[in-house]
Parts: sequence; structure tokens; C-alpha cells
Amino acid sequence: MRVLSLLAGTIIVSHLASVPVVIGLRQKPLSGAHPWTSGQDELEQWIRSQDTYSRARILSNIAPFANDPSAMPGAVCASPSRSHPDYYYAWTRDSALVMNELLSWMEHNSSMSGLQRTVEDYVSFTRHLQGLKGLKYGLAEAKFHMDGRPFTKSWCNGQTDGPAIRGYTLTRYARYLMQRGRDVEHLYGLITTDLDYVSEVWMQNWHCDIWEESRGLHFYTLMAQRRALTEGARLARRLGDSAAASAYEREVGLMDRRLGDFWDERAGHVMTTLEWSGGLGSKLSQLDAQVLLASLHSSMDDGVYTVESREMLSTALRLLRVFEPLYPVNQVLSAEINRAVVPVGVALGRYPEDVYNGVGTSRGNPWSLVTSALAEFHYRLAIEYAKRGSVRASDELLELIQWTRRRYRGQVEFKGLLRYLLGVGDLYMARVYLHTARDHTMYEQWDRHSGYGQGAIHLTWSYAAHTAASRARSQLVDLIASEV
Ligand SMILES: *[C@@H]1O[C@H](CO)[C@@H](O)[C@H](O)[C@H]1NC(C)=O
Repeated sequence: MRVLSLLAGTIIVSHLASVPVVIGLRQKPLSGAHPWTSGQDELEQWIRSQDTYSRARILSNIAPFANDPSAMPGAVCASPSRSHPDYYYAWTRDSALVMNELLSWMEHNSSMSGLQRTVEDYVSFTRHLQGLKGLKYGLAEAKFHMDGRPFTKSWCNGQTDGPAIRGYTLTRYARYLMQRGRDVEHLYGLITTDLDYVSEVWMQNWHCDIWEESRGLHFYTLMAQRRALTEGARLARRLGDSAAASAYEREVGLMDRRLGDFWDERAGHVMTTLEWSGGLGSKLSQLDAQVLLASLHSSMDDGVYTVESREMLSTALRLLRVFEPLYPVNQVLSAEINRAVVPVGVALGRYPEDVYNGVGTSRGNPWSLVTSALAEFHYRLAIEYAKRGSVRASDELLELIQWTRRRYRGQVEFKGLLRYLLGVGDLYMARVYLHTARDHTMYEQWDRHSGYGQGAIHLTWSYAAHTAASRARSQLVDLIASEV
């Protein structure tokens, strides 16, 4: 397949056999922008070794722990850091995202089926949490102590993406077991407990967002809830529970209509919060990388805010434009890796008005997991095009490519769009490489000036974002190889 080729100064896009569209490139490259002439192999080696390290770190952040016998098996700590900042808690969201990652490994590699014990621990821990009484926010409690006790101090609590992500994670695990002829009775009650709760509360506007700062109706949260109820309804049908299935499907219909309201045509991006009802009110731009995470974590195969949708392409470009000038580290255009010089992409943070520095408040920084997510976004975009065998040259796609050409001067060696997007994803992987310690230690953030790791050390989610991006990259590399 050769859907798009880049020639000097021109992008030619052809929809397979149809008439090519020719678009001139207006973006001038940044001075010092570096082409991908070498170094991709070196970067790939780093991605692999970082992947191996990340997997081990993720597993070592899941109890049981030798150094803390009180931690309940299956509890995932957000980070082992217990002070400045104290992240040694089991967040419902982070834990479920990590279990989802483990399920991906198990589905892709049968020799990893031993991880099932860890997932079963998580199932037991979930049963314990769901059974706790007297919690103010019940299933939407944001986090728990690692020994399973409720967290009772003041917090931006009531995070309803948690039960939704846990719901679709357990549903995914149920599918995994059913494919192997195993019983899922012990899961179904846990799943419907979460999904019934989501059905009841999703339309209210008190939910705290994933950054734990503002209340309202959030795009990320709603996308997670929609996926949970959609996949939960399918499971319920398979198990003959048509009453639950119909109830969930009805809510999904309502959610679909609500989700449409988040797209702002004039701003050119998806709004992160509607019906703001409290908490941080300074996020005036409504431009937030959690929108990108929502698409990566929770979009399904139906075109609704999927990575290739014009809404997501356009939002990704707006994020790049706003973050590039915001962080001094983004003036760096290349990195050296095993003596090869590779171009690096933009480091992304959470949202432009961010003031959280990882410990307290001053000025926000770029985030490791968000920048890895940007890499994954480009890989998955290319995977989607490869699966379809064609690409519609939308204005949003061309704008994104044009903008990227400032940093990534692809020459004629690029055989097509898939290769180009692989290279673009690699820009962001190289960015993560640049700010990751040489012993592979990841943090939550990178100082916007010095580029050094900052905030929670060994943040589980930073590693999980890398392994997810790395998996998407391998899939894309295989697809490109099979196209030749
Ligand atoms: C599958 O997992 C095993 C055990 O962790 C590992 O040794 C092997 O390299 C993996 N295979 C692939 C193709 O990733």
C-alpha cells in the first residue's frame, strides 16, 4: 500500500486508485530541525529495554510486597513514593488501567498467562473495596490505603471514571476467561455492581476529573463510562441477562448524544469539561490532554472520538501548538542515543494553565505519561489506516502532518504515510527517552527548564503509558513489514 508519499515540498495523497490531491507545504522547519537519517534502530533498542524495565516496575508496584506485609494482594500503588508526594495509595482508576495493561500482555502472549494470579488478586481486592460500608462516595471513592482501608481525609473525591474503567477491565477479563472455556460467575456480580452505579450517576455534574481538580461532566470520564456500559451490555447478553443489557444500552444511547456536545467547532478541539460545578476554575482554554487519553483508553471501533476522527486529529494539533512554546525544554530538537542523533518531538503536559509541579503548586511541567500517549496516538493512527487500506486526506490530518514537518524533515526515503507516522510517534518516544533516567527510572513529570524527572518516582502509570505505546509501535512495525 502506498497511500501517501512525500516529495520535496509537496504531499501527494491518493485514496488508493482515486485522483491524487496535491497540497503544498507551508510550514517552515524550525532551524536545527533534524531529519530521521539514522538512529531509529538505536531508539528502537531503547524502547525495548525501557519496555522490559517498565513491565518489571509495574509488577513490582502491585502487592504483595516483602517490605509492606499489610498491603492487600492485588492492590496497585500509584507510586511507591510515600512523601513529597505521597502517592502510596491504590487509586481505582490507575489500578484498573494497569490491570488493563496486564490483560493486553496476557492476550498477546500466552506465556504470560501466569499473570492471571495477579489479576485474580485484583478481583479479590475489588470485592473487598466494593464491600466497604459508610464511604461518602461509595464506588466513586478515588483512592484507598494499600491495606484496603478507606481514605478519609479531604480530597477531590467522587471520581466516577474509576468504577467505569474497573467495569470494562473486569469485562475484558471475563471475555479472556470465556475464550478459554472458564467460568466467570465470580466476576459478573462485581461488574454489574460497577455498571449499575455508572448508569445511575453518569449524567450528574459533581464528578471530580482524573486530574482531581475540577467538578462537572468530563469527557474522559464519560468516554470511560460509555465503553464500560457498551462492553458490559454485550457481556450481559452473552450471559442471558437481557434486562441488564437493555438497561445499559439505553444509557449508552443517551451518552452518545451528550458526547456530541463536547466538540467545539470554533475552538477546533474537544472540550474537557461541561457543566463545571466546582473546583479549579482556571482551566479557561478547556484544552486538556486527558481528551487524548480518553480516546486511547476508551474509544471503540465505531468512529466515536476514535484516534483517526477529525475531532481527535484536530485536538492533538491544538495541544501541540499550545505546549510547544510553553516549556523551555521544547527548544531542544534532537537527542543523542548511542552516538546517533535523533529528532525529538514536543513534550506535552496536562493542560496549559496547569500549576501542579508534582509536589506542590508553582508552574506545571510536561508529563511522561502524556508524552508517551502522544506517541501511542500516532502509532495507532497509522495502524488504523493500515487496517483500512486507505486514508481520507482530511484537512485535520494534513494540518497535523504539516505542523509536524517543522520538526521532522522526512525526505524521499519515506515510503508512505504509515512510515511517516511511525517516525512521528518515534519523535515523542525520543522525547520520553531524552527525559528518562539512563537506568530507566521514570517520574510523573519533567522539569520544564532542566528536563529532569520531577514529582512521583516510579509512577506506575508512566510505565504503563510506555508499554502501551511500545506495544502499538510493534504492531505498526509488523503491519508495515507485511505491506511490503
Ligand atoms: C512472551 O512472554 C515470555 C515470558 O515473559 C517472554 O520470555 C517472551 O519473550 C514473550 N514473547 C513475546 C513474543 O513477546
